Amino acid sequence: MTTGPTPLIAANWKSNQYWEGCVEFINELKELLPEQFDLGHEPPVDVLICPPFPYIPLMGMLLEEATIYLGAQDVSRFDGGAYTGDVSAAMLADLECDYCIVGHSERRNVFSDTDELIAQKILQLIEQELVPILCVGESLETRDTGQAVDFTLGQLSALKTELGRCEADRLVIAYEPLWAIGTGRNAEPADAQEMCAAIRDWLRDNLRGYEKTVPILYGGSVKPENAAAYFCQTDIDGALVGGASLKANLFAQLVRLYKV
Ligand code: PGA
Repeated sequence: MTTGPTPLIAANWKSNQYWEGCVEFINELKELLPEQFDLGHEPPVDVLICPPFPYIPLMGMLLEEATIYLGAQDVSRFDGGAYTGDVSAAMLADLECDYCIVGHSERRNVFSDTDELIAQKILQLIEQELVPILCVGESLETRDTGQAVDFTLGQLSALKTELGRCEADRLVIAYEPLWAIGTGRNAEPADAQEMCAAIRDWLRDNLRGYEKTVPILYGGSVKPENAAAYFCQTDIDGALVGGASLKANLFAQLVRLYKV
């Protein structure tokens, strides 16, 4: 039997959820996924929640007895100091975060995060032993002109040096086509598979060995109704979920779907 990357179901809460919502979500999740709250039980799929910055300490406490990882949605390019508003990787490590999303299309497009900036953020995360979840993906225009794969692999190539500095089992790639994020219009599973296979080949060609350990996630309007069609694809190792991760019952269904 060949063993591939450990599958990962990751929640990206974006700028949603408040203190009480976090508590209610975890209380519900305890009922729905009791095995994730049993430290003696080895779950077959990794589960991660990335709340907004202010709720990371609260979520850390709520998840103390759980086999659910904690992550952040962004990080400073600097290692600390006079950078008003920034949260450093060292702070995330101090709060016991395991993962951090970088290069999400909302950061690239709304906050103008460039490849150079994303590279600096990845290096900060490596320094603090956090696992970067690098998001890549094309616009609808790019897909319509048949350039989706070239464009997305180009995003990886721009960061090849930094990705090569992550240990092979300490990196996650999330393929998120822009037009599928938050729109309710999900990618065709076969198209997502084609892209994730191309990403896997890119890893094999450029960072040999990484193709065996780096989980490649699909993200973009994933919900319980469509998730199984992604999870059965050879090169899709899980999902990065926005909207459907805000409701404990939907998120729990996604985790369960991966287990079957
Ligand atoms: P969505 O968001 O599931 O709401 O489309 C996914 C993401 O942006 O990571």
